[in-house]
Amino acid sequence: SDPDLVARARAARDRLGDRAFVLGHHYQRDEVIQFADVTGDSFKLAQQAAARPDAEYIVFCGVHFMAESADILTTDHQKVVLPDLAAGCSMADMATHEQVEECWETLAEAGVADTTVPVSYMNSSADIKAFTGRHGGTVCTSSNAKRALEWAFEQGEKVLFLPDQHLGRNTAVLEMGLSLDDCVVYNPHRPNGGLTHQQLRDATMILWRGHCSVHGRFSLDSVNDVRERIPGVNVLVHPECRHEVVSAADVVGSTEKIIKVLEEAPAGSAWAVGTELNLVRRLADRHPDKEIVFLDKTVCFCSTMNRIDLPHLVRTLESLADGQVLNRITVDPETEHLAKLALDQMLRLP
Ligand code: 13P
Ligand code: SF4
Repeated sequence: SDPDLVARARAARDRLGDRAFVLGHHYQRDEVIQFADVTGDSFKLAQQAAARPDAEYIVFCGVHFMAESADILTTDHQKVVLPDLAAGCSMADMATHEQVEECWETLAEAGVADTTVPVSYMNSSADIKAFTGRHGGTVCTSSNAKRALEWAFEQGEKVLFLPDQHLGRNTAVLEMGLSLDDCVVYNPHRPNGGLTHQQLRDATMILWRGHCSVHGRFSLDSVNDVRERIPGVNVLVHPECRHEVVSAADVVGSTEKIIKVLEEAPAGSAWAVGTELNLVRRLADRHPDKEIVFLDKTVCFCSTMNRIDLPHLVRTLESLADGQVLNRITVDPETEHLAKLALDQMLRLP
């Protein structure tokens, strides 16, 4: 990265001292991650944001829903900033407030809303988390989805899992022993989600029809091809991948788990990793004693994670050091109150 920008980022960071705390998601670029005080998966970053009440500024190098969650979990006087406001998440955009309210009405008409517990993946807007809190549900991340579902099935008979159908299906079927027939997919673009009331009554898992545009591109062919190319390779994927990909993989886990598995893997072992490319490249560089390849070379970076680059970070840090808050992320108090119920429930999961 540009040495001048690196020097400017360092100088601004030093001027800010303890007043700022920089969080970096594992999918961030190397040029940005080098300035993170803590790196983590979305669960760890939410915990870390909540654990820094003394920092006046939380600089979130990640995407919008993560920064919103940080704003909800921090105190009112703390300011959360996102270095580029265009860093969204296409999956989070797949469930809007109106669509989710409409879905709940459909569940009520089918007579199942009272026995359904919403479980919202962290990758959703604050509105969706507020909906979840209002209906007694919980947020989850890829590292605690199983515990969230276990908890939810203690509260009710059915789960509405949103917005990632793959994480919901993979957790229910591969980790909790439900069958594919127990799951239905609610399509927000069709009347009644494209489902009959009877289908909704018969289902145990109602999966929202959302997906990650990056992880959704890994295919069973990617897995078969790499196994042919590299005999003995271990396939390690994120649970946002499609069901057939996760079923065919050797290990599945959140970004934090992926990092740990590769750290503990024996020297000389071979791994094909199905998650965002910045992280896979970094892990390959960090472990030259292991063969670490990207599961499918045709898949690319998460374009929104990549929007946070060094120029944006420099601009953010320099303006904060000058006392000017750019790109602050705030959630309105009513939404925040309800969303916090669902986030706190996640943080309390056993
Ligand atoms: P993690 O919870 O594993 O960090 O994943 C977040 C994400 O956006 C994956 O696409
Ligand atoms: Fe969203 Fe997928 Fe990017 Fe994660 S990798 S931030 S789920 S688009």
